[in-house]
Parts: sequence; structure tokens; C-alpha cells
Amino acid sequence: MDTVLIVGAGAREHAIAWHCSKQDSIKSIIVCPGNAGMETLPRTKTFPISVENIDAIVSLALEHTVTCAIIGPELPLSLGIADKLNQHGILTWGPNQYAAQLESKKIFSKAFMLKHGIPTATSAQFSDYIQAVNFLDNSNFPIVIKADGLAAGKGVFIVSSKQEATEVLHMLMVEKKLGLACAQVILEEYIDGFEVSAIAMVWDASYVMLEYSQDHKRLLDGNQGPNTGGMGAYSPVPAVTKNLETTIIETIIKPTINALQKDAISYRGFLYAGLMVRENRVYVLEYNCRLGDPEAQTLLLRLQSSLVSAIHSLSQGTTPELHWDKRCSVGVVLAQEGYPTSASGETTITLPNLHSKHTMIFQASTKLKSGTLHSSGGRTLTVTALGDTVLEAHREAYALVSAIEFKNCVFRKDIGKLQEQ
Ligand code: AMP
Ligand code: GLY
Repeated sequence: MDTVLIVGAGAREHAIAWHCSKQDSIKSIIVCPGNAGMETLPRTKTFPISVENIDAIVSLALEHTVTCAIIGPELPLSLGIADKLNQHGILTWGPNQYAAQLESKKIFSKAFMLKHGIPTATSAQFSDYIQAVNFLDNSNFPIVIKADGLAAGKGVFIVSSKQEATEVLHMLMVEKKLGLACAQVILEEYIDGFEVSAIAMVWDASYVMLEYSQDHKRLLDGNQGPNTGGMGAYSPVPAVTKNLETTIIETIIKPTINALQKDAISYRGFLYAGLMVRENRVYVLEYNCRLGDPEAQTLLLRLQSSLVSAIHSLSQGTTPELHWDKRCSVGVVLAQEGYPTSASGETTITLPNLHSKHTMIFQASTKLKSGTLHSSGGRTLTVTALGDTVLEAHREAYALVSAIEFKNCVFRKDIGKLQEQ
């Protein structure tokens, strides 16, 4: 019987905890810091320890004799939480600090892809504002500007003119609006295509693929507005045909795992390749060293076999078989007013009673105060539903959204709808 530690407070971690709470082989689940949604799950307890407080998390894990630790967000991985837990012999799902640079340093990850011939957009890197602006003289637009470091999905800008690009570069490199994350900046070729999130569970040379999902990064309907951490997702992705799947595995996933082996980088955890598909060619836009949020919510709604059993199998040298609900899932993110540019204060939320087995509301950073649910900003809920088609799941999810009271929240109305047209 496992005792599982989950690190994180988001809707992704709520989905992981919810999934674990349905597994008979899991005795108890502890979450740092967790949220109000997780507190109502069976055999689950939250502890108010922030994800950056690694020493406190390790002590808690030892105290509770944790048998499997799953790290949700990138920040603690970039701070070396996996290294510390591993030192204490705790089976940890999430890469070590060195390997986590694949996500936490875009320049590191670009160099890795170039070295190993993994297809990605052409790019140039800059630490000097004037040099970056001069580079724009010979650039095509749109162009993509990326902060090198972690920026919670807010460090990527697609700009359509030299003027706009110059303003963004000024904001990043002179005003340093994202702090250290933009000490270096990447200017990247814009690739026009459709996006797919390809996520593998990797244990050094062994891996198993999760099903495919598609995120919606832009804030507004019709893929307009600023980039966000993700406003909704669906799974599976009908556009990923058998042929495309073969291309993804043969040109991206296997070469990435082989390259990690060649560079003697031990990688243990989710390996997320954010892909752009253009004319049947696949390019890596980014690697993440964790599950995507909100992709995880749609994937875990469909995963019927146990994630923790799969982790045990991989760690023992056996490749597990994952079982999926054949139905489709859609997840709609509800964010607090002002997201992603400004934070508004606390607000209250009223959720409907869930009676249906094919819907679930995952919460992020919520707190229960005197029986009332409070949101503290940003992306707050992911409303998920299953359906026989993506469109049916879309309808179910939005029916549930309309039953939620969440004043002035922002959400897209077209999640899972565009691809059906
Ligand atoms: P990233 O964090 O690098 O995945 O970028 C966030 C989002 O920006 C991606 O999911 C895409 O929607 C968009 N994006 C990033 N790089 C490119 C690119 N080279 N061409 C087109 N869109 C991009
Ligand atoms: N949804 C994209 C991400 O988690 O980075």
C-alpha cells in the first residue's frame, strides 16, 4: 500500500490527487500545500507548506514514510526537490535539477535540441537589448519572443511588427518586468500550424506515452489575445492520426530520450513536448518536465489505470500498459478577473453539487473560509467533462460552467469546439 506525496496547489495537482484517491492500492495521500478541493478527497490531507520549502517537504515525506512522491509544478523541480527526495531514498516522479533545465532554461533546451537534431524553430539568443533590437531589422514577422527562465506561461510573446517587438524587448530586457527570467531572451521563428501536447512517462531509457491532448494558450475565443498558462484543453486529439503519431514518436520522443541517454542525463518523470505540427512536420516549441495544466485535468479524467502503479512498473524496469476511457474529455479553465495581466483580490465561488460521474471540477489555490470557497487569483477552476465526442464533452463542460457562481471570471467559450468545425 502506497503513501503518496503530491507537491503543488493547482488544478493539475487536484486532478492527480483525485486520481490517486480512486486507487485501492493507495493508503493515504498527502499534499503540499494543496487546496480546498483536495481536502474533500478520501484519505487525503493537505499541509500548508509552500512548494519552494523543499527541506520542510522532505521532512514531511520522511515523517509519513512516503513511498512515491509526485511533483506537480516546475518550480520545485528547478530548485532540486527531486535530488533531495532521491537522496533520502524516496521514489520520486519528476526529474532532477539538472534535467529540469529542459524546461527552466529555454536556452539550455534549445542547445540540447540543436545538438541532437531534434526539430525546433530556428532562433537566436540575446542578453543585450540593443543587439536584440538590431536583429529585428532582418527578421520576418510575426516573430516569437521568449524569456529564457520560468515565467508561469507568461514569458512568450507573439508579435507582428518591429515596433511591437521593440516594446516587448524593452519591457523584458530594460524594465526587467519578469526579473531574472528575462536576463536572456530568445527570438524565434514563428511556426504556423496546430499544437499538440505529447507527454511521455520516462524512466531513463524506458517510456510510455500518455494519450494526446491539446491546450488553448490564448486568453480569448478564436485564439486571440495574450498567451496564458492555458485556458482549456481536450483529449484525445482527432488530428493526431496514426501516421502523425509515428512521426511524433520517431522524430521527437525517441530522439529526445536517446539524446538524454547520450548526454548522461538521468530523466525520471513526465516529459512534455509542446509540439507544433505544420504540413505533417513536427517541431518542438518547448519541453516541460511535468504534466501540462490544464492538459492533466483532461487526461486524468480519462485515465483508468493507476498512475502510481505505472511509476512503480517503470522504476522496476517494466513498461506499463495504460488504460484509457475511450470517451473524449474537455476541460474549461475559469480564471479570476484580470488574468493574466493583473491580480484582483480574493473572491468567493459557489460550486454546484456534482451528481454526474462524467464531470469534475478541479480547483487551484482555493481556500475554504467559514464554509465559503475563496479564490486567490489566476486560473482557479478547470471544469471537465467526458462525452462520446469532443463536441459532446464541450457541451457537458459548458453546461456545468453555467451552474457555477464566480463573479467576473474569465473563460473561453470555444474549448474543444474549433477542431470539430
Ligand atoms: P512555449 O512556452 O514555448 O510553449 O510557448 C507558449 C505558446 O506560444 C505555445 O504553446 C504556442 O502557442 C506559442 N508559440 C511558442 N513558440 C512558437 C513558435 N515558434 N511559433 C508559433 N507559436 C509559438
Ligand atoms: N498548458 C501548458 C503548460 O502547462 O505549460
